Amino acid sequence: MPDKRLIFATQAVSFMNDKSINGFSKRSKAEKINWLTETFLNGDQESANLLRVYWHEDEQRQKRHDEFIENALTNFFLPFAVAPNFKINGEFHAIPLVIEESSVVAAASNAAKFWAAHGGFQTRIISRTKSGQIHLNYSGESAVLNDFFEQHKQQLKQSIGTLSKGMEARGGGLVSLELVDQTAQLDDYYYIDAKFETADAMGANYINSCLETMAATLKSLASNFSGFVPETATPEVVMSILSNYVPECLVEVKVTCPVSELAQEGLSGSEFANKFVRAVEIAHANPLRGVTHNKGIMNGVDAVVLATGNDFRAIEAGIHAFASRSGQYCSLSTAKITQDEFEFSMQLPLALGTVGGLTKLHPMAGVSLSILQNPSAEQLMMIVACAGLAQNFAAVRSLITTGIQKGHMKMHLLNLLSQYGATESTKSLAIEHFKTQPISARNVAEYVVKHQQDA
Ligand code: HMG
Repeated sequence: MPDKRLIFATQAVSFMNDKSINGFSKRSKAEKINWLTETFLNGDQESANLLRVYWHEDEQRQKRHDEFIENALTNFFLPFAVAPNFKINGEFHAIPLVIEESSVVAAASNAAKFWAAHGGFQTRIISRTKSGQIHLNYSGESAVLNDFFEQHKQQLKQSIGTLSKGMEARGGGLVSLELVDQTAQLDDYYYIDAKFETADAMGANYINSCLETMAATLKSLASNFSGFVPETATPEVVMSILSNYVPECLVEVKVTCPVSELAQEGLSGSEFANKFVRAVEIAHANPLRGVTHNKGIMNGVDAVVLATGNDFRAIEAGIHAFASRSGQYCSLSTAKITQDEFEFSMQLPLALGTVGGLTKLHPMAGVSLSILQNPSAEQLMMIVACAGLAQNFAAVRSLITTGIQKGHMKMHLLNLLSQYGATESTKSLAIEHFKTQPISARNVAEYVVKHQQDA
C-alpha cells in the first residue's frame, strides 16, 4: 500500500513545478516580474518592459503606490478629468472624475452647464448612520438571550470606550445597539445590530474594531451568564463586520425647472418632459432597463468616488442593494411633472470619507479634495450624488432625442482613430471630416486606410 503522504507530496511538487509558486509574496518586484515574464508571458520582454515603463520616476512616490496593495508590480493609469459648472446649492464646483470611458466627462459637463442655467442642483443630507453586525448562533430560548443582552448591553457599549474616544470627540460614535431575532429566516440565527456615526471618516476600520471588541466582550460575559446552558445553548459569535448596505446614510439631490425650458432637438418642452418621465418610469418597471439606467448614474458616482480615494466596491454594492429594496431592482432616480414644473431627483446611499484611508495616502485623491475645496464627508456625498444625477440626465436626454451613439461616438472618435493607427495629421483631418459624417468603427477604419494610403 503506497504511503498517502508521499502521494500528496509528489502531487504537490508536480503542481508547484507547473505554473504555481511558493513564497511569491516574499520576492522582490524585479524577481516577481521576471518570474511572471518567464511563466506567463512566454519571455516577452516588451510586456515586461511596459510593466517597468509605468513605474513613477520618483522612487518615493512609486514606493507609496507599491505599498497600497500586495504583490504590486507597476501602476495602471486611468485618466483624471474635471467637469466644471456644477452649481450645487448655489455654489459652483468643478468635479474631478477618474474614468476610462469616453463621453462620460462631456455628458456630466454638458448636464452641469444646462442645470447651472436652470437653478442648479438642490441637495441635502437625510441621515448619516452606518451599521455593523455581530452575527450569532444560538439554539436556546430566545427570552434568555434577550435577558442576557438587556442586562449586558451597557457593558458591551462600555467595552469600546477607549476605541470611541477620538470618534466621539469628532461628533461620532456608537448610536444604538439592538438584538435582532432572525430565526424565521435561518435556524438559530440572531445578530446584534450596531449603528454608528463616523463624522468625516468612511469608518470601516473604526466600526470593525468596535464590533470585534464587543464580540470578545460578549463571549466572555456569556461564558459567565448562569441563564445559558453550557455547551449547548450559549451564543456563539460567527463573525463581526460592518455592512456596506447603508440605507440610513442617505443623500437627496434634485433639479427642477419649468417644462417650457426643456424644449430641444425638435421636441417642445412638454414633449421632452413627458418622454423623459416615461423613460424613467420604464427604468422603474423593467430591470432590463433599470440596470442600464443605473449604470449611467454610476458612471458619475464611481468616477468621483475613485478620484477622491473612496471605496467604489462598497459604494456599488450598497447602491445596487438599495435599488432592490422593494424586492425588484428599480431605477434609482425619479422624474415627475407637477403643474408645468419638471422635477428629476434621486436618493442615494453613500458612505464616503474625506479623512483616513486612501483619501489622505493617494496624492491625487488629495488634489481631488483640494479641487472640491476640502469638503466634509456630507459635502462629498452631495457632490457625488450630483455627478450621478447629471450623468443620468445627460444619458436619458440623449436616449430620448438623438440616440446615445451620436454623442458617444463623437467623443469616442479619438479612441477609434488611435485603434486604427491614424497619424496625428490624419487625426486632425478626421476630426473635421466626421463633424458632418456618421461615426462608426467601420467608417473610421475606412477613412484611416484611405487617407493614409493617399498621403
Ligand atoms: P453636444 O451637445 O454635442 O456638445 O453633446 P457640444 O459640443 O454642443 O458642447 C456642449 C457642452 O457639452 C460643452 O460646453 C461641455 O460642457 C460638454 P463647453 O465646454 O463648450 O462650454 N462637452 C464636452 N466637455 C468636454 N469635452 C468634450 C465635450 N463636448 C461637449 N469633448 C455630449 C455631446 C457627448 C455631451 C452629449 O451627446 C451627451 O451628453 N451624450 C450622452 C453621453 C453619455 O451618457 N455617455 C455615457 C456613456 S454611455 C453609458 O454608459 C450609459 C448609458 O447606457 C446609460 C443609460 O442607458 O441610461 C447610456
